[in-house]
Amino acid sequence: MSTPQAIESLLTETRVFEPSQAFRARSKTVHCPDMATYRALYQRSMQDPAGFWAEMASHYSWSKPWSKVLEWECPDAKWFVGATTNISVNCIDRQIDAGLGDQVAIIWEGEPSTNDAGGHEVRRLTYADLKREVCTFANGLKSLGVKRGDVVTLYMGMVPELAIAMLACARIGAAHSVIFGGFAASAIVDRVQDANSSVIVTCDGAWRRGQVVPLKANVDEAVSRLTGVRHVVCLHRCGNDIKWNGGRDICWHDLVKGQSHECAPEAMDSEDLLFLLYTSGSTGKPKGIRHTIGGYMVFTATTARYTFNLVPGENQVFFCTADIGWVTGHSYVVYGILPNRVPTVMYEGAPNFPKEDRFWEMVERHKITHFYTAPTAIRAFMKWGDEHPKKHDLSSLIVLGTVGEPINPEAWIWYHEKIGSSHCPIVDTMWQTETGGHIITPLPGCTPTVPGSCTLPFFGIDAAIVNEQGEELPPNQGGLLVIRKPWPAMLRGIHGDRARYIETYWSKVPGMYVAGDGARRDERGYFWIMGRIDDVINVSGHRLGTMEVESALVSHDAVVEAAVVGMPHEIKGTGIAAFVTLAPTHQGVTGDALRKALCEHVTKEIGAIARPDMIRFTGALPKTRSGKIMRRLLRDIAAGKESSQDTTTLEDFSLLAKLRETDE
Ligand code: WT7
Repeated sequence: MSTPQAIESLLTETRVFEPSQAFRARSKTVHCPDMATYRALYQRSMQDPAGFWAEMASHYSWSKPWSKVLEWECPDAKWFVGATTNISVNCIDRQIDAGLGDQVAIIWEGEPSTNDAGGHEVRRLTYADLKREVCTFANGLKSLGVKRGDVVTLYMGMVPELAIAMLACARIGAAHSVIFGGFAASAIVDRVQDANSSVIVTCDGAWRRGQVVPLKANVDEAVSRLTGVRHVVCLHRCGNDIKWNGGRDICWHDLVKGQSHECAPEAMDSEDLLFLLYTSGSTGKPKGIRHTIGGYMVFTATTARYTFNLVPGENQVFFCTADIGWVTGHSYVVYGILPNRVPTVMYEGAPNFPKEDRFWEMVERHKITHFYTAPTAIRAFMKWGDEHPKKHDLSSLIVLGTVGEPINPEAWIWYHEKIGSSHCPIVDTMWQTETGGHIITPLPGCTPTVPGSCTLPFFGIDAAIVNEQGEELPPNQGGLLVIRKPWPAMLRGIHGDRARYIETYWSKVPGMYVAGDGARRDERGYFWIMGRIDDVINVSGHRLGTMEVESALVSHDAVVEAAVVGMPHEIKGTGIAAFVTLAPTHQGVTGDALRKALCEHVTKEIGAIARPDMIRFTGALPKTRSGKIMRRLLRDIAAGKESSQDTTTLEDFSLLAKLRETDE
């Protein structure tokens, strides 16, 4: 189990922050106002999950009620069996029907300044606007032959049309597969092929730090390597030059022109596919995580409501800084927030464009009350300096959130003091692409927090720390984080790979969901996540398989073999260290030029997030006598530590000294 240095310090953290009086004073309604209420609700959710979730589900509209709340045959769960609904109705129409059609659903802000005075492009879409946009685009998709059950691929920047396209798919019963705009063409090829998607929606480009990311060109390159793509819908956002393929490409604007503003929602079965979202695992091939409609809808809306204490009518404005290309954006920019009748903020670009105070400027401009980001971003804010938040009025903030990786106490305290004026509760939300929504998290105004701990399980989540036999471990003993009961937004499988689904999540400890994280619980029952136990690394809160980076490296002519491990990184939490052996033709030409070439190659193959932070050339990789790469040893070397690993099985001892030599 790897324990990055940042995490080691939090293992000794003992400061406790009780819910602040200031938070209580400012929130008229607190859904879970004290620990006694939390305990009672949690207990009820454990003893009577069906009753508990039926009650939560009753807040939303269903076109046909369920006959049974849960059918569970490990590892297959069905929630709200027999019920039909449409998630776009719960995100949009339900608000309109309640007379809230002219209230703001989405506040979007573009990255570029629109005038010399630094004015910004802002779009506010009401629920009525959103309905019109979603329906016209849904009708447009239908006109391209997209039907219920198809998978539509979305490879776009953070523009409102991305949320519109997701909801339009949901409206007509098509599933979506969103690919993060930072991924390269080969990532599109793999995902489109695996999803068997014949329509891709993209943009000419996306703004990022004043530059245009050429999304359409990446799609063109991907499609040239694919056979089944019939149409590419392209939204013109940046006005950059693009190639146009007449028979195949359709402009978004032309597609929606003349379409009806009404599109009757398909009545979807609760267990129909809502989306696929690809995430990294221990092998080189990303997994298409399957999420279905009913359970995901109820769980994301319920977690959003409790974890952030969302209350309509209290002028709340919710801003999650994640890109929709990740699960955080799916659940807490779009699906979990819209049903709660609180405006969701979508921001197009980089946090430091044009300057390092962009987010704080936005908080002030939109009177943002809820701010949800990742520890890696917080560490960057700290490095940029306190003067940036100090320039702005942040007094609108009520709740702060963090997600993606364990937060180091130093960053937690900075967030608390400099952003939250020492009175905004911080919710450290632990979850995964596979869990759909928060599984372990404090509730604001309720749970006392300890910096670095994600505290206690959410309602309905039977989380525990166990050994490989499934036995629960005593306090403070590290073990496997598992969930012992099904929950509504649990993944329903890996697309097209049942064996991998069972093998990855359900075979390590039979009968329990194994999250892939090592963790412990302290004396008060609080969870402390210690890091991944598989070959997955968490770089800036984004998951990457070390094998993916290794295969990108060996696809370069110069490389024969590569081993990739995580290493401590000041901002990213975990950085990428690559140990590489070179082809005879390239031996002797090591050095910065080759390092740079390899970094560029990985960026081209996967995307900038996979760019190695350190490349070390070596004559050979450390292997056991049976030929296994000794990754733990490499991790220790990359961290500059003496290894605690037993090296007696190492095949070539002289290697150790060589690997430790730094030539940078
Ligand atoms: C992995 C899941 C789900 C949102 C973004 C990441 C790590 C996530 C926390 C947290 C400690 C965390 C875990 C998990 N992780 N949140 N609050 N504290 N670790 O989603 O890409 O599916 O990655 O991120 O290691 O397994 P993901």
